[in-house]
Amino acid sequence: MKILVTGGTGYIGSHAVEILMNSGHEVTVLDDCSTGHLDSLPPTVRFIQGSLLDPDLVVRALKGCEAVMHFAGKSLVGESVKKPDLYRQVNVAGTKVLLDGMNTLGIKKIVFSSSAATYGEPEKSPISEKAQCVPTNPYGETKLAIERDLSTAALTQHLAAISLRYFNVAGALKTQRGWLAERHEPETHLIPNALRATKESPLRIFGRDWNTPDRTCIRDYVHVVDLIDAHVKALNALVDSKHHIINIGSGTGYSVMQVVDAVSRVKNSELATVDAPRRAGDPAVLVADISKAEKLINWKPVKGLDEMVEDTFKAS
Ligand SMILES: NC(=O)c1ccc[n+]([C@@H]2O[C@H](COP(=O)([O-])OP(=O)(O)OC[C@H]3O[C@@H](n4cnc5c(N)ncnc54)[C@H](O)[C@@H]3O)[C@@H](O)[C@H]2O)c1
Repeated sequence: MKILVTGGTGYIGSHAVEILMNSGHEVTVLDDCSTGHLDSLPPTVRFIQGSLLDPDLVVRALKGCEAVMHFAGKSLVGESVKKPDLYRQVNVAGTKVLLDGMNTLGIKKIVFSSSAATYGEPEKSPISEKAQCVPTNPYGETKLAIERDLSTAALTQHLAAISLRYFNVAGALKTQRGWLAERHEPETHLIPNALRATKESPLRIFGRDWNTPDRTCIRDYVHVVDLIDAHVKALNALVDSKHHIINIGSGTGYSVMQVVDAVSRVKNSELATVDAPRRAGDPAVLVADISKAEKLINWKPVKGLDEMVEDTFKAS
């Protein structure tokens, strides 16, 4: 299939490009490289450098494609609080430009990178897609706004769309050119930050008095290779003019201490940590109910925490 991958030079998008091309798909990448890395791309990919906000360029990138995997966007929660307009412009307006281009060219299939940030701080865990969405930051609000636009486009332009609400993504893939690494700047994710921690700059553990078995917070992680498998399965499931929303996570969750122990095992030395107070708005447990993913797209993760930590370490 001919697929446009937006954000294909970023962490997750570059894994998609690699896996799609290795399984015989023809890929075009559209990316402005604002947070991505050109050297993540295979040399043979069709690459168009520029922004989603440029309608002519978007139509050029879409020409000849049958489907879109839409990863491009801004995704730092803290930055979104400081620059909400930038997030609305790139994420929401940028996606609208993409949907308009798809409409112009009659392209009907899209898989979108949504986020668990759409839920905010749900009271019940595991979190099902039916949970109420009350995002607590502009980033989550933009993802929810895009999902709404996709529901509208399913009705008005007969789009077949799936939004995958990822929880925390980790891990990496080894290619013939070397490892594709997670290279966010700043890095806000626990696993890469735990791997970087040193005695001089220990990993902060926010609260050790949570109502969980080891008293630290529990979060849900998914290996990036499992995540791209979910994208491929979602793409194959795009047959009707509907918009489906599906959680993608491990379904069980891992505590901060489980992550700390996994990092210590992989590095063969005890990870330096320091206790810090709870952060405002942090729920004790955030775990995805992934039963809909299994039912609708026949997807289940196969890689666990050790593989996520090990691969992130090897790629760093
Ligand atoms: N990493 C995670 O744990 C996680 C969790 C939930 C959702 N997501 C979502 O997955 C997607 C990919 O995340 P990532 O971690 O790979 O982020 P990333 O920052 O590494 O990748 C985003 C890519 O989009 C590109 N981009 C940004 N603005 C653009 C624009 N205007 N035009 C064209 N390209 C543009 C960037 O250059 C970058 O290559 C994002 O939409 C993010 O919100 C990620």
